[in-house]
Amino acid sequence: MSDQSENLQTVKVWDLPTRLFHWTLVALMIAQWLTAENSSTMDYHLWGGYAVLTLILFRLIWGFVGSDTVRFRDFVRGPAAAIDYAKALLRGETPLYLGHNPMGAWSIVAMLVLLLVQAGTGLFANDDILIEGPLYGWVSKSTSDWLTAIHKFNFNLLLLVIAVHIAAVLFYLLVKRENLVHPMLSGRKHLPANVITTVPRMVSPWLGLAVLGIAAVVVWLVVA
Ligand code: HEM
Ligand code: HEM
Repeated sequence: MSDQSENLQTVKVWDLPTRLFHWTLVALMIAQWLTAENSSTMDYHLWGGYAVLTLILFRLIWGFVGSDTVRFRDFVRGPAAAIDYAKALLRGETPLYLGHNPMGAWSIVAMLVLLLVQAGTGLFANDDILIEGPLYGWVSKSTSDWLTAIHKFNFNLLLLVIAVHIAAVLFYLLVKRENLVHPMLSGRKHLPANVITTVPRMVSPWLGLAVLGIAAVVVWLVVA
């Protein structure tokens, strides 16, 4: 045991923009859920929705220009890799990764797609009384009703995938004894030296701020 801990090395795996993205998204999702409950908080729901849309756009761009561990090219692997990974888990092994594991990668892609659908359909939604998304006027009432139905149904899918996401994190913590939450807070993992084949390149947080700015301008141009 002491041998293993002596061989552990600390490596930075999540850049600051990705960590801020993650925890802001969690807070906003809770806010979106609460503000969707009644019409008096719908104004906040729309503003929160723009913020979610900005974050998702940020993350999509960040997947191309961000640090090595968050680039789609780096962490999205084919279904075979995910199946191999699942088999290894079933054998009781715990393959270690600097960034996302191949199964986690798919749940992240699923969450990003569902979040985009959620925020995208919200733009056209209406509540039959007072509230309309900013792009309501672009479509007919029946199309808006249809998109509103998707907005409501898709939220349940999102809850399901988020539940699986949180269950996976808890599984790692309790069964595999690997804390993934701490790295999402601190940015650092402690891994055996042989897992760190290359130290991931971290890009400047200022680039993250610039990308966030671009995402915010795009959303503003769409909804203003
Ligand atoms: C990811 C972000 C979002 C989440 C999680 C979310 C969630 C929800 C949920 C659960 C409802 C259903 C409330 C009910 O059962 O009546 C709802 C309704 C609604 N949402 Fe969102 N929403 C999001 C983004 C947006 C955006 C971006 C807009 C518009 C700019 C929007 C506009 C609306 C409207 C107008 C309704 C009213 C539909 C109705 O109650 O009939 N939402 N949202
Ligand atoms: C609204 C709820 C949540 C959403 C939508 C969400 C979404 C995401 C996304 C998109 C990522 C990928 C990060 C990236 O590469 O940009 C991620 C990773 C992660 N999330 Fe969440 N998350 C949620 C809640 C939570 C909670 C409550 C926890 C802690 C208990 C958590 C822990 C983590 C961890 C540890 C990772 C990194 C996983 C890894 O090491 O591969 N998430 N999450």
